[in-house]
Amino acid sequence: MTIDIGSTTIHRFPHGFINKRAEPILVTTLTEKRHPKLIEMYLAYRPRNSFSGLPPIRDEACIRWVRDMIANGANLVAMSFEEGIVGHGALFPASEDTCEMLLVISPGHQKVGIGGELARCLIQLGQEMDFGQIRLCVEAGNHVARHVYEKCGFAYLTRGLTAELDMSLDLARCRGAPGEAVRKVMNPRGIAQHPRDAPQGRPQDLPERRPGRAAHGQGPEEAGGHPLRDGPDG
Ligand SMILES: CC(C)(COP(=O)(O)OP(=O)(O)OC[C@H]1O[C@@H](n2cnc3c(N)ncnc32)[C@H](O)[C@@H]1OP(=O)(O)O)[C@@H](O)C(=O)NCCC(=O)NCCS
Repeated sequence: MTIDIGSTTIHRFPHGFINKRAEPILVTTLTEKRHPKLIEMYLAYRPRNSFSGLPPIRDEACIRWVRDMIANGANLVAMSFEEGIVGHGALFPASEDTCEMLLVISPGHQKVGIGGELARCLIQLGQEMDFGQIRLCVEAGNHVARHVYEKCGFAYLTRGLTAELDMSLDLARCRGAPGEAVRKVMNPRGIAQHPRDAPQGRPQDLPERRPGRAAHGQGPEEAGGHPLRDGPDG
């Protein structure tokens, strides 16, 4: 699939919002001028090798990894007024219908609402690029990432106890969204409360609902090769 990011909404209309620390953040496409800044963001990332072995530990491997993403992905960045690039998200075509998603926020800017906004921009981008589904792989212990993905409607493909979980978002179900019932567009199973907000301090799903056609991602699936999981060794 050819990536024509220049014709997408996020390219023409960057997404601005205020994060939970009351700082303005802009999500926009990665222009060539910002490539060195993205490399800087990953070189400054600490600790490296912290999620699925990424970013690579050695500087040369890290730079090579970022350049590969620039060359092969549709890349968005989250920018702060003061510090420039503080987050990066990308979609990598895996087939005509499917892309894989990467989402990374600089450590000093995590948990203030940037990842969720960036993820939603990536979903819209994937939709406009005509992908049918977005896939990703997340470490089972990465509860923050899992919470963000679940909140965005991703469903688990992997079942049972595994170190890494495959998740997918069915974009096709959103195509007719304006004319569909809400339960068809949203994934009722993906709606969960953060433990902090749940009564008795534990996660709580919303009341059981009869799944409509929107319930997706049923059934375990064989995990194929994963370009993000298999990044260059540091
Ligand atoms: C995972 C990541 C992308 C999320 O981005 P972020 O900007 O930190 O996330 P946000 O602030 O938008 O959202 C965090 C959510 O997790 C919740 N959260 C915080 N601590 C949590 C915990 N221990 N368990 C579960 N959820 C938690 C927050 O309350 C918030 O949810 P809410 O919006 O419903 O309140 C970011 O933390 C990151 O870059 N981590 C390192 C790289 C990584 O793991 N990438 C994913 C690889 S698959």
